[in-house]
Amino acid sequence: MINTSVNICGVELKNPVMTASGTFGSGREFSDFIDLNRLGAVVVKGVAAVPWKGNPAPRIAEVYGGMLNSVGLQNPGVDWFIENDIPFLRQFDTKIIVNVCGHSVEEYENVVRKLQGQDIDMLELNISCPNVSEGGMSFGTDPKMAEKTVKAVKKLADKPLIVKLTPNVTDITEIAKAAVSGGADALSLINTLTGMKIDIYRRKPVLQRKVGGMSGPAVKPVAVRMVYQVCKAVDVPVIGMGGISNAEDALEFIMAGATGVSLGTANFTDPYATIKTIDGIEDYMKKYGVNDLSEIRGIIE
Ligand SMILES: Cc1cc2nc3c(=O)[nH]c(=O)nc-3n(C[C@H](O)[C@H](O)[C@H](O)COP(=O)(O)O)c2cc1C
Repeated sequence: MINTSVNICGVELKNPVMTASGTFGSGREFSDFIDLNRLGAVVVKGVAAVPWKGNPAPRIAEVYGGMLNSVGLQNPGVDWFIENDIPFLRQFDTKIIVNVCGHSVEEYENVVRKLQGQDIDMLELNISCPNVSEGGMSFGTDPKMAEKTVKAVKKLADKPLIVKLTPNVTDITEIAKAAVSGGADALSLINTLTGMKIDIYRRKPVLQRKVGGMSGPAVKPVAVRMVYQVCKAVDVPVIGMGGISNAEDALEFIMAGATGVSLGTANFTDPYATIKTIDGIEDYMKKYGVNDLSEIRGIIE
């Protein structure tokens, strides 16, 4: 009998596979294709204190091995989320992780305060979005700001707090350590890498905002390297993401030390990608005699 379950800060997930924030909404559209009951967790799109309309279009561009986006965390706000998305997701036997965004420490605090007592499982603090001009990534590139923001939010959080890190730094382990010393119960990484694409015929950037966040298969080696480094540097569970499209990709992150894995961009090209990844992990475990994922987690020295 294989055991695919993983425990992240006391929350038991039936398997390590989750959806990366912003690529799966709150699962509604995907529930027409896949059985959400099979997922380890649904990580929802970033939720802000008030509705955000996001950035002007074009805000998506295809690039080699992935995509650029500058969506800018468009979302209907925490009140709408509580009223509509929590009841929807609670119909399914999966964990609910709420991604929290803000332009300031106060805005993050306002979201987390409203989520107190709500029927959710974990919080994921996004201090790593490259697509908002104030806040977002600026909190995640300076260790002092990261620690201060995490500390403020942790005081109000009544659920385990995951802090999501940006890869757009020189040494991600510095930010990881700062987030943990601020009180992060777990870390997730990576968010998107800043990138740009130019339309040479129009002689203009493809994205209206010029620069966006790069995601998809091409970023995977960067993400695996960062997950490996962070897992060696801190003692909290890590959720790995960045270019995961299938079980082989997911197992790389697990061997690098990740407890959980998330699929993002892959959902856009194949809505069944998460389910295929879960099946593929099970097949690998059976074929190679792995009874529990802890036997292969972090085996890379
Ligand atoms: C269109 C789009 C929207 C995203 N929105 C969010 C978001 O709201 N909050 C967040 O923390 N990350 C967001 N991300 C980042 C993803 O969750 C993930 O960290 C990143 O895309 C890397 O994983 P992937 O290569 O599997 O997509 C978004 C990514 C994309 C492509």
